[in-house]
Amino acid sequence: MKKTIEDYELEGKKVIIRVDFNVPIKNGTIQDDSRIQKSLPTINYAVKNQAKVILLSHLGRVKTEEDLAKNNLKIVAEHLSKIFNQPILFSSVTRGKELEDDVASLENGQVLLVQNTRYEDLEGKKESTNDKNLASYWASLGDIFINDAFATAHRAHASNVGIGALLPNGVGFLMEKELNYLKKLEDAKRPFVAILGGSKVSDKIGVIENLVLKCDKILIGGAMAFTFLKAEGKEVGKSLVDSENLAFCERMLKIAREKIVLPIDAHVSCEMTEASPSRIVDFSSIEQEEQAFDLGPETIKLYQEQLESANTIFWNGPLGVVEIEKYQVATEEILDYLTKLQKEVILGGGDIASAAKHLGFEEKVTYISTGGGATLEYLEGKELPGLKVITDK
Ligand code: ADP
Ligand code: 3PG
Ligand code: MG
Repeated sequence: MKKTIEDYELEGKKVIIRVDFNVPIKNGTIQDDSRIQKSLPTINYAVKNQAKVILLSHLGRVKTEEDLAKNNLKIVAEHLSKIFNQPILFSSVTRGKELEDDVASLENGQVLLVQNTRYEDLEGKKESTNDKNLASYWASLGDIFINDAFATAHRAHASNVGIGALLPNGVGFLMEKELNYLKKLEDAKRPFVAILGGSKVSDKIGVIENLVLKCDKILIGGAMAFTFLKAEGKEVGKSLVDSENLAFCERMLKIAREKIVLPIDAHVSCEMTEASPSRIVDFSSIEQEEQAFDLGPETIKLYQEQLESANTIFWNGPLGVVEIEKYQVATEEILDYLTKLQKEVILGGGDIASAAKHLGFEEKVTYISTGGGATLEYLEGKELPGLKVITDK
């Protein structure tokens, strides 16, 4: 058992809460605020108990100057002010006088959101490499550290593991809830089927090695599928392929071909837009310049057959480019199939969660975890660094 926020006297204390506000944003609008909503119980508790609350979060990945503007957390501060019914202070920087003054001005029960922690990645990847100086600087701003960012718990970054190691610490309510739920998956009712899609191929491909041991079947969609198909010698046109992981996929197919189910057709186009002409092909007739953006109807049928007898389904990553309506079909039809049959469905991952919500399945699935990579690594049986750093009680 880990220490929790409830183990501390919070009144007048500067409490740093690491949340995961890495929400999908399109054209300056938050597409799905679930991760923000689900952080509210912990923030509310700290406010009610008269803490001076300092929120830290990352947003997106920051590599270039342009990424700074794209991943500015101000939009989240504005949204949080609205849903929290209390103005949320925002510091537009991750270090320096403005931030320190903001922290010093905090009154009991006030909340300050600090700029995207990954602004510190622009020069020297300080956040993502858990830079010691950065972690001690941030830790110097607070008295207690609470980690409620379950979705980031698989990262050992300065804002979670770095600060966590330097301050009295505990987990928040969301972290506790997620862990309680995922523990239940350890004795999942069989057949246990995993569906893996999405685009973070190099991040996620490794979990397959462990999932083949835990699951009875793994259905692969999204961009992940094309690295596997390519490894099998299929033609995939311009579809996303993670060439560094081709050998890994070959090995997986060699040891677990009977468990891994791959697409047999796809919805392809030369451009990733709604308007660009598209067609359904099997992989023998895909053209060089075409890219697969969704699974085809034969694959949807095949995946539904594979899921018919499943008792537990864990699903990470959308099966197609769900941001574009015509490529939502596989994700929507499989969600529809599973929920009509009232299967035990656990979704993990920001984008699959937001797609399920958008398509009207939020109330119909069993549980939606805020974690993507974190949920997968947990299921792999890996120790999550963001959790490990928190003191046992
Ligand atoms: P999650 O957030 O659920 O863990 P990821 O972040 O790994 O999922 O991936 C989500 C992204 O994957 C979406 O933006 C979607 O457009 C993209 N995607 C899905 N299928 C494809 C595909 N065939 N080609 C390119 N991108 C894809
Ligand atoms: C997520 O969305 O899975 C988490 O916020 C972690 O983001 P990352 O994969 O960019 O570290
Ligand atoms: Mg995602």
